[in-house]
Amino acid sequence: MIYKNSTGDISSDMLEGFFVDWPNPPSPETHLILLNKSSKVITAIDDHTNQVVGFITAISDGVLSAYIPFLEVLPEYKNKGIGKELVNRMLKELADIYMIDLCCDDDLVSYYDTFGMTKTNGMVLRNYKMQVGNI
Ligand SMILES: CC(C)(COP(=O)(O)OP(=O)(O)OC[C@H]1O[C@@H](n2cnc3c(N)ncnc32)[C@H](O)[C@@H]1OP(=O)(O)O)[C@@H](O)C(=O)NCCC(=O)NCCS
Repeated sequence: MIYKNSTGDISSDMLEGFFVDWPNPPSPETHLILLNKSSKVITAIDDHTNQVVGFITAISDGVLSAYIPFLEVLPEYKNKGIGKELVNRMLKELADIYMIDLCCDDDLVSYYDTFGMTKTNGMVLRNYKMQVGNI
């Protein structure tokens, strides 16, 4: 597995299969734009297939706050420690930032606990008709 902090070598045909269970998922092309526009991105690439099999992004003001909107590992690559590696690498990238926030479902609270994160309240708004992206 190769981990990369930049998207320079990544093309949209390397981004198949993500956004599992999303009724209206963004296309691989939109996914690539999202990666390029994020403040920080780390991808996990299977060096045998040259496909991206996991990714994490952060958007940040670079001063005090960062938000982690996306972490996903492809189903056939789950439970191999890839998610853990992506989170650890991102937290290292954000080590000089005061607030590092993300939202997750209840079943992932114990997962994020293991990285020293704590549960809090969050409020979200979802504009479902834009789930595919605005590109
Ligand atoms: C969450 C996710 C990124 C974890 O990636 P991964 O590479 O499988 O995770 P790791 O191999 O580092 O860790 C696996 C551990 O996390 C636990 N875990 C993974 N997903 C979990 C879930 N949905 N609920 C509870 N535990 C989960 C596994 O049980 C395993 O525990 P163990 O180490 O005690 O056996 C991956 O399951 C995924 O892409 N899920 C769908 C998208 C998603 O929910 N993203 C998070 C948005 S906040």
